[in-house]
Amino acid sequence: MTAQLIDGTAIAAQIRQETADVVAELKREHGIVPGLATVLVGENPASKAYVGSKQRACAELGMVSIGHKLPDTATQQEVEKVVADLNADPDVHGILVQLPLPKHLDEEKILGAVSLEKDVDGFHPVNIGRLSMKGREPLFVPCTPAGCIELLVRSGVEISGKEAVILGRSNIVGLPVSMLLLHRNATITICHSRTADLPGTCRGADILIAAVGRAEMVKADWVKPGAAVIDVGINQVWVEHPADQEYTCAVTGETFVAHRKDQSEKGGRRKVGDVCPSCNEAWLKGQRRPECGSDRETMALFRKYKLVGDVDFGDVNQVAGYLTPVPGGVGPMTIAMLMHNTYRGALHSLKNRIG
Ligand code: GUN
Repeated sequence: MTAQLIDGTAIAAQIRQETADVVAELKREHGIVPGLATVLVGENPASKAYVGSKQRACAELGMVSIGHKLPDTATQQEVEKVVADLNADPDVHGILVQLPLPKHLDEEKILGAVSLEKDVDGFHPVNIGRLSMKGREPLFVPCTPAGCIELLVRSGVEISGKEAVILGRSNIVGLPVSMLLLHRNATITICHSRTADLPGTCRGADILIAAVGRAEMVKADWVKPGAAVIDVGINQVWVEHPADQEYTCAVTGETFVAHRKDQSEKGGRRKVGDVCPSCNEAWLKGQRRPECGSDRETMALFRKYKLVGDVDFGDVNQVAGYLTPVPGGVGPMTIAMLMHNTYRGALHSLKNRIG
């Protein structure tokens, strides 16, 4: 017997459709189009990709997105000014400052500067504070943790009275998802790098949330038979390719393993360097091409990678009752919940207008 797969792509599509329907109604009845502003500071490629996906999702669901891009040299004042302007803009119902921010910026201060009523990420200290208290309601709940709960609920997994173990104590996932599970009457245990017996503690879980960012760390003998396992991890691991060979960078002298571009190869390739086909000299990405006297086209050198979660899928699939895949589990839910929160931001502004 293998686990029942929790299909995050399908559940996210359901939530996106539900959101598109209420967005259309809001437009029809009140002439309001929900607007999401994204603030991206710097050039982190993963952050750029995430922000792009969030903007595309807005367009698909009939919402407006406004993108603000700042260089990684932006000052604290410049970022805070962008946030203040967005707070004051009546067409903006949600503000998302993409994390991580460059090191020189004060993340806590910037997240605290986002208007409570536009905090669609749910990271404002007041929203987090309310989430962490009994009987209080945050205006917005952080998207990835909310997505984990939706996956469990829509798959029919009982939460109340169950033992939930959360691997990881991050502000973005571990801590808020713990609070959400507690509000739904689970008994929670939060594990971290100093937890004495990680496998033993995880084995006690009816619901296991893995959010540590360690590729395939959770093994079958960490999991109670029949448990629901939600894998929040997105880790890139390099995989060997038959055409891989070792190159030496003609500029730095470093060696690196890569293969030449092959058009038949699909997905998961990342450029790591270049090679001159006539003199066969190679150089790492970001280095200047050495002078070899040839003016022929250079060829790109690639490495192959795949995405894996924090859970060893093949292993845990034999033991768990429910399991999310990576990709296609929690990932698509984050954006779906962000769209839902942006709609709620627009609804909130309407309520304030009506009084
Ligand atoms: N970086 C990784 N996850 C998130 C998220 O949910 N929101 C923001 N703003 N940044 C992130």
